[in-house]
Amino acid sequence: MGLLALDPPGLRHPHPLTSWRRRWIDDIVPVHTVVVVEDEDVVVGFAAVDLRTRELSQIFIAPDHQRRGIGRQLLAWAQAQMPAGFSLHTLANNVGSRAFYRRHGLIEGATRTNPYNGMETVEYRWAPP
Ligand SMILES: CC(C)(COP(=O)(O)OP(=O)(O)OC[C@H]1O[C@@H](n2cnc3c(N)ncnc32)[C@H](O)[C@@H]1OP(=O)(O)O)[C@@H](O)C(=O)NCCC(=O)NCCS
Repeated sequence: MGLLALDPPGLRHPHPLTSWRRRWIDDIVPVHTVVVVEDEDVVVGFAAVDLRTRELSQIFIAPDHQRRGIGRQLLAWAQAQMPAGFSLHTLANNVGSRAFYRRHGLIEGATRTNPYNGMETVEYRWAPP
């Protein structure tokens, strides 16, 4: 299984890959439910949800696979995992993800500072119709 390259121009994460790897191993994999999307044995997207707090904690599509409906499918997967509703936080300057969440009917909430990266984030909430 290959690994997707996550380095979208203008949206580089402030933490290096090594600390992300540690966070996945220590914090995410043990307690989150994770799904990956593969294209010919290469991971091209993934999502993670924390069912305890009803949060969509991760959703990423490889740059060359974006705008093909994969994110929408992962969002639908998250909705099936958390049918009573969920929240998420995205970087305030992430114009693309904010448009994506708005497009799918999520409601914009408060801004806060992300405890992991110190950057401004915006909350979005999804509730079933
Ligand atoms: C945000 C993200 C998950 C969306 O996934 P995706 O597979 O590209 O989205 P979809 O193809 O399902 O898009 C569905 C619709 O959402 C909207 N949308 C998605 N990306 C958008 C963007 N960059 N700008 C504006 N609208 C966007 C559009 O309305 C799109 O429909 P269209 O392509 O017919 O116009 C994906 O672009 C991504 O991984 N981005 C980088 C990482 C990231 O920001 N993750 C979120 C962290 S909270």
